[in-house]
Amino acid sequence: MEDKVKLSFDGKDFEFPVLKGSENEKAFDVSELRKKTGLVTLDYGYLNTGSTKSAITFVDGENGILRYRGYAIEDLAEKATFPEVAWLLIYGELPTEAQLMRFRTMLTENALIHENLLHFFREMPPSAHPMGILSSIVNAVGLFTPRFYDDDNKADVFDLTTVGLISKIRTIAAFTYKASIGEPFVYPEAERSYCSNFLNMMFSSKAKPYNPDPIMEKALNTLLIVHADHEQNCSTSTVRMVGSSQASLYASICAGICALWGPLHGGANQAVLETLLRIQQSGMTVQQVMEKAKDKNDPFRLSGFGHRVYKSYDPRAKVLKKLMHQVFEREHEHDPLLDIATELEERALKDDYFIERKLYPNVDFYSGILYRAMGIPTNMLTVMFAIGRLPGWIAHWKEMHDDPCSKINRPRQIYTGEVLRPWVDRKDR
Ligand code: SDX
Repeated sequence: MEDKVKLSFDGKDFEFPVLKGSENEKAFDVSELRKKTGLVTLDYGYLNTGSTKSAITFVDGENGILRYRGYAIEDLAEKATFPEVAWLLIYGELPTEAQLMRFRTMLTENALIHENLLHFFREMPPSAHPMGILSSIVNAVGLFTPRFYDDDNKADVFDLTTVGLISKIRTIAAFTYKASIGEPFVYPEAERSYCSNFLNMMFSSKAKPYNPDPIMEKALNTLLIVHADHEQNCSTSTVRMVGSSQASLYASICAGICALWGPLHGGANQAVLETLLRIQQSGMTVQQVMEKAKDKNDPFRLSGFGHRVYKSYDPRAKVLKKLMHQVFEREHEHDPLLDIATELEERALKDDYFIERKLYPNVDFYSGILYRAMGIPTNMLTVMFAIGRLPGWIAHWKEMHDDPCSKINRPRQIYTGEVLRPWVDRKDR
C-alpha cells in the first residue's frame, strides 16, 4: 500500500505522498502543499525538514551510524586514505588503483597557488583568524582560474577545479600558519603523500628539517576522513544554498568555510580546547564548568557535546578517542588536557541534565587534543575541519547540479511585521 499523509484544513481533506529512502527513512512530500492548501510549513532550524534527496552520506543519529556511500566510517578510518575517501564521496565509488594514481598525480600537480596571492598572507593583520584568511584566499584562487561559472558543471572543468581545491587548501592553510609565525613558506613536494605534504609545509623550515612522524601522518589521515562529510549539516547546506544560484564552486566553498567557522558548528573544536585550557589555567574545576553549561542564565555551552542528529555517542568521537589513546601510547607522551577531557566526559555521561537531553561527545570533543599533539595551533583547528570537509562540500555541490529536480533554494516565511500604513513626512515623525 502506498503510504500517504492525510491533512484536513479549512474543511477540506488533502493527501500527500510519503517517500521512503534506501534506509527506510520516511518523508512526506510537501512540494504541492502551498498549491493545494495555501499553507507553507514553518520549521526553525529545519529540525524536521529535508532539503533534498541525497545518496552521499547516511547518518543514523539514534544508533550512532555514519556511512559514506554505504561504507562504514569505522572501516574507512581504519583502511582508507583521505584521497580515496574524497574520490568515493565525489564520484560515488572507491577509486581503482589507476584512478587513485591519476588523482594523486593531479593533487601533486595542482598544489601550488598563484604567486601573486602570496602577498595576501603577508598583508593580513597578525591577529586575523585563519578561517577568515582561508575563505578569502579560496575565493581569490577562483579569480586566477578560467571563468567557469558559465560551464562550472562541465565534467573536465569540475574535475580540475575539484582536485585543485582539495590540493590547494593544504597549501593555503600551511602558508597562513607560516605567515602568522613569520617564517618563510615551505612549498609542497611532489614525492610526498597528501598528509605528509601538509605536515611538511606546516612544520619544516630551512633551519629545522622535519620528517613527519608516520603515527602523526596516520592520525591526520584518520582525522580528515572522519570530518569528510556529514549529510545536510549547516556548512554543507550553505554550499548547496549558494551553489543553487549557479554561483561558482569557489564561491560556494568560500560560503561553506564561513558557515563552518561558527562555534556551534566547526568552530566547536577550537572552543573545546579553549575550555580545557581555561580549566587547566584558571583553576576552574570540571564540575564548575558543568554547572556553567547547565545554567540557563549562562550562554556558555559545553562545546564538543550535543548534536542535532546524534542522540547517542557520535561514532566519529569513538574513532578519535581510540586514535588519541593509540597516539599518546606510541608517542609515550601525555597531555594533561586529556585528563580534563576524560573527567568532563565521565561526569557528563552520568549527569541527569546531559542524559535527559541526550548530549554525548561529538566529533569536536577529542579532535582538538589530537591536533594539538601534532603541533597544530588552537586557532587553526577549524581550518583542519575545513580541509577534511572540503570533499563532502564538493560532493554535495556536484550532486545538486547533477540532480534534474534541483532549483534555486528560496524558502518561504510567515510575515509578522506591520500591515500596510500611510507614508509619514519627516517633519511629522
Ligand atoms: C558539528 O550537523 C552536523 O552534522 C554538524 C557536524 C558535522 O559534522 O557537520 O556534526 C559538526 O557541528 C558538531 C557540533 C559542534 N558544536 C558543539 O559542540 C557546540 C555545543 N553543542 C551545542 O551548541 C548543540 O548541542 C548543537 C548546536 C550541536 C545542537 O543544538 P540543537 O540540536 O539545536 O539543540 P538545542 O540547542 O535545541 O539543545 C537542546 C537542549 C537545550 O536545553 P533545553 O532548552 O532543552 O533545556 O540541550 C541543551 C540546550 O540548552 N544543550 C546544551 C548543549 N547542547 C545542547 N547544554 C549545554 N551544553 C551543550 N553543549
